[in-house]
Amino acid sequence: MTKALNVVELECSACGKKYDASVEQHLCTCGKPLLARYDLRRAAATLTLENLITRPRTLWRYAEVLPNDPPVSLGEGMTALVHAGRLGGSIRCGSEGLQRLYIKDEGLNPTGSFKARGMTAAVSRAKQLGAKALAAPTAGNAGGALAAYAAAAGIPAVIVMPADTPSANVMECQAFGAKVVKLNGLISDCGKYVAEHKDREGWYDVSTLKEPYRVEGKKTMGYELWEQFGGKLPDVIFYPTGGGVGLIGMCKAFDEMQEMGWIGAERPRMVAVQAEGCAPIVRAWEAHHTSAQFFPNATTVASGLRVPGPLGDQLILRMIRQTTGTAVTVTDEEMLQAGRELASLEGIFAAPEGAATVIASRKLAATGWIKPEETVVLFNTGTGYKYAEAWQRALQSAGGGAA
Ligand SMILES: Cc1ncc(COP(=O)(O)O)c(C=O)c1O
Ligand SMILES: [Zn+2]
Repeated sequence: MTKALNVVELECSACGKKYDASVEQHLCTCGKPLLARYDLRRAAATLTLENLITRPRTLWRYAEVLPNDPPVSLGEGMTALVHAGRLGGSIRCGSEGLQRLYIKDEGLNPTGSFKARGMTAAVSRAKQLGAKALAAPTAGNAGGALAAYAAAAGIPAVIVMPADTPSANVMECQAFGAKVVKLNGLISDCGKYVAEHKDREGWYDVSTLKEPYRVEGKKTMGYELWEQFGGKLPDVIFYPTGGGVGLIGMCKAFDEMQEMGWIGAERPRMVAVQAEGCAPIVRAWEAHHTSAQFFPNATTVASGLRVPGPLGDQLILRMIRQTTGTAVTVTDEEMLQAGRELASLEGIFAAPEGAATVIASRKLAATGWIKPEETVVLFNTGTGYKYAEAWQRALQSAGGGAA
């Protein structure tokens, strides 16, 4: 369809089977996700720090390592990397605080979360491939992002979400003109609904990891860190992990950077942060397993972390292992309290998922796993403005009284 694709082929992340990137592709025949492969030698010739200076301040600045369709863009990416000096001082490694603590504030993206990154890439590609309608299950933010990019692309969207998804996510999808289906269940049930209906209804399935390009959009978080740190990567990255696409995407970016000769074999240590009430990856990590089991009765205020059976479990666990990272849980009460801290110390109004990383970093600093001089990045994956219900609870429990 499109000539001279940047993506030279798609490759199964588990069995290595190759697929043609010029036509619609979803999972491998073995059931695992496909990843996009590029001619990185060619990319490296023009993708340089120097050339980046004059490029647009969106994630499409990394054009050589993205699908080269005309972008359906709302100005996503190049989010602020904020030095969090006051919060860092409160995260104690023995007698010292963290001097080089940074927040990557993904709440500044269109539709208020990092999900915009994945959807700009996926929807741009889907449009080029002639998709007639886009569908995805969502914990909340991915639905809002898909609905927005589908609107911008002029393609109908169907968003399937748990009935108790935060109200802002429901409203934004409706405002963007998407069809919203609410189910009494979890994102895993919503995923089944999409799988059962898509062929009959002619939907292009944009579910997490069931098409290859959301990972491509999300990996730009890794490229941005490299660029914003002046051609270096941090020592540790804390990432709130639901489906795990952000973590998988960044690790893919680091591998590409190594292949382009930008970095060596060293990697930031990736820390997957999950909710105590839904922690399939942490449980598998603690048990030294290479795949995760379905987490029963999943419940947490961090709706984006309520993913009991992530399709990318093996990839997530492999990447934590390869980067000598780790995985930790945080309770809902801890997240709500950390959200207040992040807001009052740094002026960042975060989603509970983002706030969870504050607690996780404090826990690992206390054990000596992080050293005070290390560069540490916490990902605030979404804005707090969409979590009215959670923030009401947070302020009430602080005795501040919610209006
Ligand atoms: C705010 C927020 N943070 C984190 C996540 C988890 O994302 P990932 O699929 O990359 O693990 C989500 C997913 O819905 C989210 O909305
Ligand atoms: Zn395969």
